Amino acid sequence: MNICMIGTGYVGLVTGACFANLGNKVICVDIDKTKIDSLNSGICPIYEPGLEELVARSRKAKRLFFTTDLKDAVKKSQVVFIAVGTPPKEDGEADLTYIEDVSRQIAQSLTSYKLIIEKSTVPVETGNWIEHTIKMNNKRKVKFDVASNPEFLKEGSAIDDFMHPDRIVIGAESKRAKDILLKLYKPLKATTIVTDIKSAELIKHASNSFLATKISFINAISNICERAGADILEVAKGVGLDKRIGKDFLYAGAGFGGFCLPKDLDAFIRISEKLGYSLEILKIVRSINEDQKKILLKKIENNLWILKGKTVSILGLSFKPETDDIRFAPSIDIIKALLAEGVKIKAFDPKAMEKAKGKLTNVDFCSDPYSAVKNADCVVIMTEWKIFKNLDWKRVKKLVKQPLIVDGRNIFEDPKKIINIGFKYIAMGRKI
Ligand code: UDX
Repeated sequence: MNICMIGTGYVGLVTGACFANLGNKVICVDIDKTKIDSLNSGICPIYEPGLEELVARSRKAKRLFFTTDLKDAVKKSQVVFIAVGTPPKEDGEADLTYIEDVSRQIAQSLTSYKLIIEKSTVPVETGNWIEHTIKMNNKRKVKFDVASNPEFLKEGSAIDDFMHPDRIVIGAESKRAKDILLKLYKPLKATTIVTDIKSAELIKHASNSFLATKISFINAISNICERAGADILEVAKGVGLDKRIGKDFLYAGAGFGGFCLPKDLDAFIRISEKLGYSLEILKIVRSINEDQKKILLKKIENNLWILKGKTVSILGLSFKPETDDIRFAPSIDIIKALLAEGVKIKAFDPKAMEKAKGKLTNVDFCSDPYSAVKNADCVVIMTEWKIFKNLDWKRVKKLVKQPLIVDGRNIFEDPKKIINIGFKYIAMGRKI
């Protein structure tokens, strides 16, 4: 099929490249000319395992193109995906300005039937608004359909998630729209749910909120473990073996970050209020998540006594491993809070240093983990990158000023190994 993907962020770029890989012809559109120019010269604006190679392969096969010309891209396509950003407003509500702009531009470019699909995470009823906006600006009265096809891919494993999804959700209300989407996804041979547009929109909100709830729940339990003298890893293992619960998303730590879970949670809270039902449960989920960062800070403070003038080494800046994304990363809040207390920060991350440099000042960004821990009074682990687990911790012990580790991600299954080297080891809800 000829596909137009509007928005080349994490979702749009990965989805566009994957559809091209499945044999479709995909034109990716973005208003950011610098981004399009760099993609056209083979440079990927984000780090996502396998993405750069996939983009290069599909461009070479002449199945993937990048442009700023939305009108032309829409004209050449039968299927138009909207994957633009829906950033949070001050009150947490999703800002749908880009969705409206794009819908208007699509309408003005219509010359033949198109299926317009919302891929961005949007509040329920956005599908109706897209349809309304297109109708208003569709001067030539060209036929079109609107559908919802929420994306569930995770950063760091996005390509694999696209190729092997747990399910595909199609919200469509005409046979033509349903058939096109079913045909498009047929090669993936995945479990597919075909439903109405509003239900599809809500599936996305409910899924992300449930995942956030699971994390905050286990974080709350980890705080109980700490007080009761139990170990959260053992408890989570025992709980997760119940198939009805499942072992995933039961890792306690500094809390969830990234551009999806926190933002979608806030947006869902606002949507529910607008609909006249207050999702109190999600407000608690949000506040537990905020508290986890305060708990981590307190652990650093309790073990350093006076923060002012101390050196803290931060290992990990991205909101999770295998990504360079630092949006809403707990590390950023922790660093800012420590800087405000007069702490000297040294930091290292395998992929997220460039992005962090744009967001943080007064941080000594180090070229490798060993220089980052040199002379540190405390080493704080903020992201569970594999290389941190596999560091030569004996060497680290020789480099630091004080042998103190505050582990915000519980990276060591057996804390004894690290304690026997001579470290004081503080984790989140562990029995030490
Ligand atoms: C999420 C959803 O998983 C995905 O389906 C949706 O499309 C986009 O939002 P993503 O933001 O890439 O994906 O990250 P995810 O793997 O969900 O992790 C989110 C955050 O939760 C990370 O900060 C991670 O460290 C944290 N997390 C995850 C935990 O603290 N504990 C866990 O057990 C799992």
